[in-house]
Amino acid sequence: MPFGHGKVILFGEHGVVHGRPALALAVERGAEVTAAPSTNGVTTLHIEPWNVDVDAGAGPNEGREPLQRALQTARALYDDDIELALTAHVRLPSGAGMGSSAALGVAVLRAMDEARGTLHSNDEIYERSLSWERVFHGNPSGVDNAMAAHGGMAVFKKGEPLKRIVARRRVRVVAGYSGVGSSTKDMVASVGRAYTKDPERVGKIFDGMAAIVSNGRLALEQGDMKSLGQLMTLNQRLLAALMLSTDAIEEMIEHALKAGALGAKVTGAGGGGCMIALVDSDAQKEAVKAALSALGRTVYDVESGPS
Ligand code: MEV
Repeated sequence: MPFGHGKVILFGEHGVVHGRPALALAVERGAEVTAAPSTNGVTTLHIEPWNVDVDAGAGPNEGREPLQRALQTARALYDDDIELALTAHVRLPSGAGMGSSAALGVAVLRAMDEARGTLHSNDEIYERSLSWERVFHGNPSGVDNAMAAHGGMAVFKKGEPLKRIVARRRVRVVAGYSGVGSSTKDMVASVGRAYTKDPERVGKIFDGMAAIVSNGRLALEQGDMKSLGQLMTLNQRLLAALMLSTDAIEEMIEHALKAGALGAKVTGAGGGGCMIALVDSDAQKEAVKAALSALGRTVYDVESGPS
């Protein structure tokens, strides 16, 4: 079934908008989309479990304008008269830093292709989904839709081919949702303003994150999970210096580390959304999940495939 992956960013969010690298892990959860012929002459999209309906027509879709614009951009990629009734199942929290909009966009484009008997490569799907992401995120780096299209684990840098990572060990992360959604567009804009105001300080933070990405890649290739965890916690300090952490996130990080996590940080845009904690055994995973659940948080398991 046409699918787009969710993702977690292990290192380098925000710096990646400003030309630095980020290291991300695609999530097996994501969005699935099926297509049937449209019955009303216009391409429509129904999204579960959000119970949202939009169409790509010119008429009003009150309160759903960004989604309508995104669907219109996707529809406009095809120069034909095929109109579809699309149904999506999104198995990711929205506004949580796990790439739900990119997963949805990639799955929609794949479903539109499939219904036409067309096949685009992952790279092409990545390129084609950029305009969808721009509708929601203003000035996205492209990391979310690159991971949504390709899956796996990789270093992403704007304008460069995706660098796949072959990790020596399976990467296991517990994601905890803070209960507060955040707008990637607003968070990216606020970091952008901070960068314009103080390019030297913020530029140094981005450079620090770029160094963490390089070291994180080495740690993954060497299977050094202890260093990987330490790098995550270091990255968190830099994100907090950009005002991207919140009390709820800090509380989850503290409890995850106390429960034995090897490292923990905000993931994605910050200002709410999710934190991630690195674990390296079933016992650690269960302890961290229990600690976050005791705080009343929703938790998600994220694991890299066997490598
Ligand atoms: C969002 O998942 C990651 C950010 O770096 C934004 C982007 O890269 O487009 C915050």
